[in-house]
Amino acid sequence: MTDLKTRLLEAVHEDLEQIEAALKTHLTPDLDLVSEVAGHILFSGGKRIRPLLIVLCARLCGYEGKYVHHFTTAFEYLHTATLLHDDLVDDAALRRGKPVANALWGNSVAVLVGDFLFARASGLAASTQIMEGIEIIARVTEKMTQGELFQLAKKGKLDLTEQEYMDVIQWKTGVLFQGSCEIGAGLAEAEESRKAALSDYGLNLGIAFQMADDLLDYTRNENKALGKNPGADLREGKLTLPVIHGLKNAEGKDRAFMEDMIRSKNFSLEAFHNLVDLLETNGGMAYTREKAKAYVEKAKACLDLFPDSKTREILKSFADYALFRSA
Ligand code: IPE
Ligand code: IPE
Ligand code: MG
Ligand code: MG
Repeated sequence: MTDLKTRLLEAVHEDLEQIEAALKTHLTPDLDLVSEVAGHILFSGGKRIRPLLIVLCARLCGYEGKYVHHFTTAFEYLHTATLLHDDLVDDAALRRGKPVANALWGNSVAVLVGDFLFARASGLAASTQIMEGIEIIARVTEKMTQGELFQLAKKGKLDLTEQEYMDVIQWKTGVLFQGSCEIGAGLAEAEESRKAALSDYGLNLGIAFQMADDLLDYTRNENKALGKNPGADLREGKLTLPVIHGLKNAEGKDRAFMEDMIRSKNFSLEAFHNLVDLLETNGGMAYTREKAKAYVEKAKACLDLFPDSKTREILKSFADYALFRSA
């Protein structure tokens, strides 16, 4: 799969350069503290998936106007703001291999810089006067915050259902991917059927992406590239599909061990490895992989509406990458 990543990076490297440049150009706060804190997370190795989706969807629909990078920037700022807030909510230690912003500058600063990025994202969208873009940003933010809240309300609850998990990941992650694809198509004023196809592509891709993220959290091997601590979801009391399904199948002492792990939060590496083994033997990992794969295939099928092109192939490869990535 490294090949897939290399090929993808080659195919989009010019776009990535433009995305990076625009992220720098548009930041311009009055306070150096904002540049420092926002810069700490913004320029520390994010994959820029949402901006790339905007560029590629706009290109697929034939857009040649000047506003692509207003929106690539707005969406990455929005994403970054959610991460600043999410790391505080989750009490996470690492993001992109570095200490989280709230650990370095405190909670108040992290919240306020997140707010700055939310506002700058809206301002950038408004400066284009493209109402659809402003509306998408508002809608995505509403859903995303409710996804995070719903997840928080369910924290540590052993009876979390698969449907509830699906709602959480659709809202906290899926809709931002979906919105990125929608604005790409929207910029190009694509016809409704194409907009709808890209919207579905984005949603399915986002769901698969979050499932893959949840699988990566149960990686046994050290994975420096991930930049987050494996096992963090369980420590946060966050039940994800591998555990939900694993619990459903586990019986007797396996089940008791899993329940203890979820309640304890402070577990050894050995106990964590035992849990990962149990998630394998009880089918939680395989089930999640299968589900994620099905969403990847659904995402790819949405692109069949478009004639064959290099851009369409890149978007299809993106969907494969969402699942097989290691970071
Ligand atoms: C992290 O998203 C949050 C999730 C939705 C799992 P990414 O994995 O896209 O984060 P970066 O921007 O590449 O660090
Ligand atoms: C990702 O949430 C979605 C948002 C940040 C809104 P997670 O908490 O699952 O993602 P990571 O693991 O911190 O990247
Ligand atoms: Mg988190
Ligand atoms: Mg996670």
